[in-house]
Amino acid sequence: MITIKPKHLCLLAMSTAQFFLAAAQKRTIEQKVDSVIKLMTLEEKVGQLNQYSGDWNHTGPITEDGEKQTQIRKGQLGSMLNVVGVEHTRDIQRMAMQSRLKIPMLFGQDVIHGFKTTFPIPLAQAASWDIPAIEQAERIAATEASASGIHWAFAPMVDLARDPRWGRVMEGAGEDPYLGSKIAAARVRGFQGKGLGNTDAVMACVKHFAAYGAAIGGRDYNAVDMSYRTLWEYYLPPFKAAVDAGAASLMNSFNDINGIPATGNNYILRTILKGKWNFKGVVVSDWGSVGEMIKHGFAADEKDAAMKAAIAGCDIDMESRCYKNNLVQLVKEGKVKMSVVDEAVKRVLTKKFELGLFDDPYRFCNEQREQSQKNNPAHRKAARELSEKSIVLLKNENNLLPLSKQTKTIAVIGPFVKSVRDNLGFWSMEWPDDSSTIVTQWEGIKNKVSIDTKLLYAKGCNINDTDSSGFAEAVEVARQADVVIMSVGEARDMSGEAKSRSSIRLPGIQEALIKAIHATGKPVIVMINAGRPLVFNWVADNIPSILYTWWLGTEAGNAIGDVLFGDYNPSGKITMSFPRTEGQIPVYYNHQNTGRPAANETDMNYVSSYIDLYNSPKFPFGYGLSYTAFTYGDIVLDNKTMNTKGKIEAKISITNTGNYDGEETVQLYIRDMVSSVVRPVKELKGFQKIFLKKGETKTVSFIISEDDLKFYNNDLQYISESGDFKLFIGTNSENVKEVSFRLLK
Ligand code: NOJ
Repeated sequence: MITIKPKHLCLLAMSTAQFFLAAAQKRTIEQKVDSVIKLMTLEEKVGQLNQYSGDWNHTGPITEDGEKQTQIRKGQLGSMLNVVGVEHTRDIQRMAMQSRLKIPMLFGQDVIHGFKTTFPIPLAQAASWDIPAIEQAERIAATEASASGIHWAFAPMVDLARDPRWGRVMEGAGEDPYLGSKIAAARVRGFQGKGLGNTDAVMACVKHFAAYGAAIGGRDYNAVDMSYRTLWEYYLPPFKAAVDAGAASLMNSFNDINGIPATGNNYILRTILKGKWNFKGVVVSDWGSVGEMIKHGFAADEKDAAMKAAIAGCDIDMESRCYKNNLVQLVKEGKVKMSVVDEAVKRVLTKKFELGLFDDPYRFCNEQREQSQKNNPAHRKAARELSEKSIVLLKNENNLLPLSKQTKTIAVIGPFVKSVRDNLGFWSMEWPDDSSTIVTQWEGIKNKVSIDTKLLYAKGCNINDTDSSGFAEAVEVARQADVVIMSVGEARDMSGEAKSRSSIRLPGIQEALIKAIHATGKPVIVMINAGRPLVFNWVADNIPSILYTWWLGTEAGNAIGDVLFGDYNPSGKITMSFPRTEGQIPVYYNHQNTGRPAANETDMNYVSSYIDLYNSPKFPFGYGLSYTAFTYGDIVLDNKTMNTKGKIEAKISITNTGNYDGEETVQLYIRDMVSSVVRPVKELKGFQKIFLKKGETKTVSFIISEDDLKFYNNDLQYISESGDFKLFIGTNSENVKEVSFRLLK
């Protein structure tokens, strides 16, 4: 006898069509992807692994238009970059919808520090140490980019960098793996928001995997040679943190690692990323990096390059056309297994399903939404606030800053004062119609001062030339003023991709201009706008007040005005050590002690030092001043020993002993005194941002557990070892209090 259960009754009530629809809806994305793959020809599959550029901003040779369109209509192109705006992305999506299987296209873009609203460059954002603010910046970037048809941000760049000659330091978080990991995860969360499928969420693309930041000599695209221990310990953690935060994709780096190009590197892609880390997202090559394996001397020709990259685990070929021209043949010849292609296609289609593009390929194409993102006041406010937090006060003798808004006459001098685009920095999205919305430094200052204040201006010189004919006017203007504000630095195209510099001084004759103004005897404030740490010893030694203002973006002028006139008390702290000379590079705080450490700065007698230079950097990692002063108490530990299951609490009280309310970033460092592998003299293991009113004291507490004491041993096992540790808490990596404790096993 057949018993009919209530569940079955319910099914009987449904029409057959409804039944199948419900069943289809219940299918997981994996099942849906599999059923699409079953319908695809090999040519269509390879098309999904091919990516071309539109003509917005190319950093290599591009594929001609006609050819692209034919391929899109044939369903043989999976994604594009540099196609921006609803109008353009919709046009191309329409072409894709004419293809046999109507598989939607993905549109990627370099959204490096904002989209319509330009935020400070990432290295500047890192100086804020403000993780929620950094996450919010990416949330805004994602909201704006997704409204312009973009599904995929080629960011965050999480390459650890110790060499400021490398122009791409501007895109990252600096030299520390701990801080870099926190920022990497925050930026992924910001881009992906509440998850793919929401129309304001874009796929993050963590780059450049891996070790790109260690390009030899700081020369972009150069080779990387490092121990696997260094790779695991310093260069991989930010990538791991980003993967753990759910990053949807990763991008290969251009470099080779110990002789194997990253794009064809089995160990990096299959063993680590897709193996140990179980990464399920998409791996895209960098621009042309599949084909570049020929020039590396790793692949004989394009076919060999395609084979090596696909087998190693690079899913999408950006603009080298090696996959497009060779993968079908390689599969037919049995040199690349169909399963390798299927796995890559599966990753790509999964993301397209997760983004909701199979349900509605035009869901990111809404003109109204796009318009509403232009000049959005809430976004501008966030950009201004993050810009304020990114500015670093390097020096402030005799409290020259903040300036009074009532100052009678202020001379504002230098090539950046009225500059528009240079505030945006490299990798900003250039919107010609939006350039009027960038607040110049001149406007920012003008908006602050009283109506009785006389503002004088002289450019003095251009950023990078030898013509000093403007000096006389600048000196004259300075002579008339009570105080001089100078704004100098690097032009927006002097740091960034392919922008390595062997000399990282102030370009052109800007330093000579500063000297000429200083010679007037007037009090001078220098603001340095740059995409990297520069070397500026004369300025650092002679000018009383120095602000490092990086490239701050759309709201640069307002943020600078806020800081100069005390509406915001600066709190930024540098996340790369600033070298004294280029010859000192690489200089980084978490170095080893060596067998012959110098006893002090002047100790140069058969110790590890130069005979003509101190070992310490000009400004250390974590350094940055405030208009107020913070006084640290002594560290109090609740216990002097701990076991692997235990914890130690370290407390310290900090008092604002100056004259302004202000924010301080309290930093915790640890040193393992004796271990099977030599440990650095300090490693950042925690930080807290606190706000203290004038006169206020707060106690900050850090909890130390075994995890904070682990490292990669010689067999690349991540372990802790018993013994003595030093614990430091302070205001930067050099100025710290210290205590000791012991780990027992
Ligand atoms: C090359 C750069 O290295 C990479 O970061 C960028 O995403 C691509 N070009 C696309 O523009």
